[in-house]
Amino acid sequence: MTGNPLSRRRFIGAVGGVAGLAMVGFAGFGRMSESAGQTLVSRVRLPEPFTVPLHVPDELRAVPDPGSEDRYELGQRLGDVEIIPGTRTEVWGYDGTFPGPTIRARRDRPVTVTVSNELPTPTSTHLHGGVTPPDSDGYPTDLVLPPGYQHEPTGHSHMVAPEHWLLHRHRKDYVYPMRQQSATLWYHDHRMDFSAPQVWRGLAGFFLVSDDEEEALPLPKGDRDIPLMICDRAFHEDGAFMYPALDPSLQDTPGVEHDYMEGVQGDVTLVNGTPWPSLDVSGARYRFRLLNASNARRYRLALDPPPSGGDSFTQVGSDNGLLRAPVGHAAIPMSPAERFDVVVDFSQYPVGTQVRLVNTLESGRMQNVMQFHVVRRAREDSEVPARLADVPVLDPARAERVRRFDFRNTVGDDGHHWTINGRAFTTSHVEANPALGSIERWRFTSDFHHPVHLHLAHFQVLSRNGRDPLPTDVGWKDTVDVRPYETVDVLARFDGFRGRYMLHCHNLEHEDMAMMANFDVV
Ligand code: C2O
Ligand code: CU
Ligand code: CU
Repeated sequence: MTGNPLSRRRFIGAVGGVAGLAMVGFAGFGRMSESAGQTLVSRVRLPEPFTVPLHVPDELRAVPDPGSEDRYELGQRLGDVEIIPGTRTEVWGYDGTFPGPTIRARRDRPVTVTVSNELPTPTSTHLHGGVTPPDSDGYPTDLVLPPGYQHEPTGHSHMVAPEHWLLHRHRKDYVYPMRQQSATLWYHDHRMDFSAPQVWRGLAGFFLVSDDEEEALPLPKGDRDIPLMICDRAFHEDGAFMYPALDPSLQDTPGVEHDYMEGVQGDVTLVNGTPWPSLDVSGARYRFRLLNASNARRYRLALDPPPSGGDSFTQVGSDNGLLRAPVGHAAIPMSPAERFDVVVDFSQYPVGTQVRLVNTLESGRMQNVMQFHVVRRAREDSEVPARLADVPVLDPARAERVRRFDFRNTVGDDGHHWTINGRAFTTSHVEANPALGSIERWRFTSDFHHPVHLHLAHFQVLSRNGRDPLPTDVGWKDTVDVRPYETVDVLARFDGFRGRYMLHCHNLEHEDMAMMANFDVV
């Protein structure tokens, strides 16, 4: 990947180890564990956990429009924000903020978002989980250029047929028909070769879809319905984001320093852009829309102490909408891009309790995610009904075909790539042609942790290694955590639009290192 002969030699050495010792192969350049990356060490003085109040992103206001759609304007620009107390961080933000503003949409009410770009580099904006037409899907080479920017194909441009660059000057209208049920979606950057550093610098926000079915439920609402974007970052002395990009200008050379090719992790956990925050809560139920917006980090979320009366989390929704019925979990594993819509009942704790949300995959300071401080009793006006939504269970017998996708590291003439079925991404190769309206059984296999994501199509997890899926695999999903040497079968439904979409690994460093493929809905 990099032209650096030393890196390449070291990498090939490590791969040699894999061949002989399949299960411990990655010990050569990273411990084989629940971890999916290498962790940066911040140079700034970090705050004590739970000393900063939780920030909740503002909601984006629609442009007044008498018509039957919602129009939004979203400007991508530099922002100067306080993340680590007492320092300033330059972010690349939607409206200059990190996270970007939350967009609220309603089922069947079309949304047009006009995204303009005043950043130093091209961007592409993807609505993750959105059922969107192909030209609004944020394809990696469908770019919005900053004013005056001269686009020179660089980086992995050999993977892009010249006619596949689509260049928009300064702004582009993304059109979302919203023919989809209520769900916690998110939007983020998807620029070819540079999604990982551009998301790391701040290009991510929530996009919440509601519908009548959801609004009629007595789930917690208003200020007891809070989106939580969880991600990790690291910081230089002056508060600037630290990221091991080979080309910090993000203009020419894609990729990260060799030690970070498994994925980049930070040593600070941010929730909605605040480090290890604290939130005062009432002794009542809260709905949290959990999103793992990290580039590579995986979590296993739990409450400490766990409630005495029941499960820590009552899951009511998955990536793409409400579940048929709530499911209780003591802990929730969450790979990058997954969402879990959960209810936590703080009435199970005495007033005064400090409840930590922890990542049990870590020890020490990085075990902390955030804290809830139960500060008062409250009247309960919500409940979790036994029945939530109509969710059909897909029948494997209806799958029109089975396709296999192997996610693996492959060494080629120009270094190593994270590949799908042995191929590094190119814009011209189409890996699958599912028919519009069909259901297919897709089988994912892997050599490492790969959070596999499909654009457009939502799926249900059928099995892991031939056995039942995890309790947390329930519901409609667009991203599934495929673990080392695991085989995960999903039933995917290709509804909505014909055209070119992609599937890829949502470890963003893997994605930038070519772990993407096209499928064409025909
Ligand atoms: Cu959230 Cu193609 O990605
Ligand atoms: Cu997506
Ligand atoms: Cu991957």
